Amino acid sequence: MAGDEDLASVRWHRLVTCRLEETERLSPGLGTLNGAFWDRRAERYAASTNATDTADDPFLRRLRRVTHPSSTAIDIGAGTGRFALPLAAEVKEVTAVDPSAGMLDVLRRDARRLEVRNVTTVQERWEEASTGVADVVFSAFVLTLVPEARRFLAKLDAAARQHAFLYLGGYSADAVLDPLWRHFHGAPRAPGPSYLDALAVLRELGIEPEVKVVELINRRRFATLHEAVEHYREALLLADLPDVRRELEGLLAIWLLGRRGALRSPLRATPAAIIHWRPRQTPGRSPR
Ligand SMILES: C[S@@+](CC[C@H](N)C(=O)[O-])C[C@H]1O[C@@H](n2cnc3c(N)ncnc32)[C@H](O)[C@@H]1O
Repeated sequence: MAGDEDLASVRWHRLVTCRLEETERLSPGLGTLNGAFWDRRAERYAASTNATDTADDPFLRRLRRVTHPSSTAIDIGAGTGRFALPLAAEVKEVTAVDPSAGMLDVLRRDARRLEVRNVTTVQERWEEASTGVADVVFSAFVLTLVPEARRFLAKLDAAARQHAFLYLGGYSADAVLDPLWRHFHGAPRAPGPSYLDALAVLRELGIEPEVKVVELINRRRFATLHEAVEHYREALLLADLPDVRRELEGLLAIWLLGRRGALRSPLRATPAAIIHWRPRQTPGRSPR
């Protein structure tokens, strides 16, 4: 008989916890990845996600297929609002939930600039947030930061009247960064869960979602090697020391492609998974 350790939700918990512990051990004082870490990254996060051109994002296109002007939506872990803000222009109301004050400050500032008035922000972790229900509930690039995936997903499912979505990376950037990571840390990085693990947790909840894997073109460009060093120093959780920066600069000069002014990672595109299901309590549907 399968023991608790065989459950997908237990495996998920183990993977996320080990990964968060490793991250916090290597970057002390930066704040937890599922908490204050995002506060000081908010401006940079907004700039980098704007550069990836959300208007074209397959996930936003998918959300548009199920929403209309009278729809309500909840964006869980909305960050700086790259999905909440464009969606708000086309629906009745969006509730943006996120524990990071810094991320929500940027979202509210951009909402004012864009004259978007139908986004309400809730500064809480989803696990504790009281938002009520909405027609469409979604969460993009958040679940892999959450140890208690089962609870998070059960609450997401219960909050959705018509459609529930997750958007998750379909490929780990770790695979690409692995030689650089091992060069500096001397061991491979603790693996995080993948979208396949998320599907297994959903199945434990009795949810059989549909999955579409899409390709996201990597549009991130670095104007200078210095800019790339700052980005990868943080991605590789390296100390801010002159020797470390010099060594990383030497490696990136070989590894990055393109010219000065438009340096880029060798990864041309990354897959991402759009996971969709009809919530279990939808009227007229048999309970699972
Ligand atoms: C990688 S960002 C994604 C932001 C946005 N969804 C996007 O795709 O641009 C992760 C966000 O999840 C938020 N977050 C982390 N743990 C969370 C939780 N338990 N509940 C809700 N949001 C959370 C962080 O504060 C951060 O803003």
